Amino acid sequence: MHLVFDSLTGNVRRLAHRIAARAAGMDVQDVRSGWIGDPFLLLTYTFHRGDVPESTRAFLRGAGRGLRGVVASGSYHWGTNFARAADVIAAEHAVPIIAKVNKGGTDADVALILAWLASATAPNPTNLQTVTFTGGTHGTLD
Ligand SMILES: Cc1cc2nc3c(=O)[nH]c(=O)nc-3n(C[C@H](O)[C@H](O)[C@H](O)COP(=O)(O)O)c2cc1C
Repeated sequence: MHLVFDSLTGNVRRLAHRIAARAAGMDVQDVRSGWIGDPFLLLTYTFHRGDVPESTRAFLRGAGRGLRGVVASGSYHWGTNFARAADVIAAEHAVPIIAKVNKGGTDADVALILAWLASATAPNPTNLQTVTFTGGTHGTLD
């Protein structure tokens, strides 16, 4: 499994590298670098009132077949559009939402994503689940 991220201001890039540092041997790459191999977990952010960044869309047009799950960052500030890029991508590509995170995510978000990666990369992955975001009070509000 590879990690692929899209990031404008650095939150998702930092999250991706935090995860990669804890998942030995997992490579991490920017969407702008193009296809890095299948399968992969995509980490991206939400833009323009709940939309998917065009750079993420462009990457998925070429590499979408390898997508196994999506993590989207957003900000609680955006209310019902919070991290909505995850919903859009999950629906368009029929993949599970692994996490919706506020900004760069919390330690709990990192642990959850690592647990999914461990399950997804096990020799006989069984128990792959869609994780439903249930809200929370952690993180920042801006
Ligand atoms: C112009 C603009 C629009 C945004 N729109 C949304 C949005 O609709 N929903 C949301 O949850 N976050 C939205 N955000 C917040 C970003 O998704 C959030 O800050 C994210 O962590 C950015 O990731 P990055 O630092 O990796 O680029 C928006 C941010 C900006 C600057």
